[in-house]
Amino acid sequence: MKNIVIIISGRGSNLQALLNASLECRVRTVISSRADAAGLVFAKEKGIPCSVVSPHDHPDRASFDAALALEIDRHDPDFVVLAGFMRILTEAFVMRYLGRLINIHPSLLPAYPGMHTHAKALQDGVKIHGCTVHFVTPDLDHGPIIIQAAVPVLSRDTEQTLGERVLREEHRIYPQAVRWLCTGKVRLDENGKVIHDGIRTEDSSLISPSLEDIT
Ligand code: GAR
Repeated sequence: MKNIVIIISGRGSNLQALLNASLECRVRTVISSRADAAGLVFAKEKGIPCSVVSPHDHPDRASFDAALALEIDRHDPDFVVLAGFMRILTEAFVMRYLGRLINIHPSLLPAYPGMHTHAKALQDGVKIHGCTVHFVTPDLDHGPIIIQAAVPVLSRDTEQTLGERVLREEHRIYPQAVRWLCTGKVRLDENGKVIHDGIRTEDSSLISPSLEDIT
């Protein structure tokens, strides 16, 4: 059975979705970049060992990342799962875990990398928005994509309602992605492409707003 380490910075709802799913892996530890992250409470309740590696204890990004790597490596994980981790990682850190480091992002990448993704989607008037799980590479929020979920954007949506709709999908696709990784159904090949092995693909579509029935 594979071992994973989950890294958070805050609320931890994706962490909860992962811990509540029956994943075929062992969650060795949860590491937070903030001592007051709500996600830590839930992880402790589940009996998962937790620790905090704070950027405030380190003079620069390189030394923070080195401390984070040291803490991760103590647990010897097969995969490192970023779940709402809100720090930009150095290239050295990312390359150390290449092919073993994944992230969830609240947009249909490559659209809307970075912050405030729901506000940007509303501002642009897109009709479909969503979330993405991807391998992390040094190119911020542009790593090879494992799975995405799309939701309609409604005319009455606010940043909050749209964010909630996207988050519900995050909680569905992240456990799926981790399960695929841990059972060897998804991997990053030597050319940087995602290989999906034995995963069912369906001929489905999301059209928003809906087509009118013209028959
Ligand atoms: C989630 O929406 C996640 O996709 C996003 O932060 C939120 C964390 O929520 N991550 C990023 O924006 C990473 N760039 P959570 O702590 O409740 O899982």
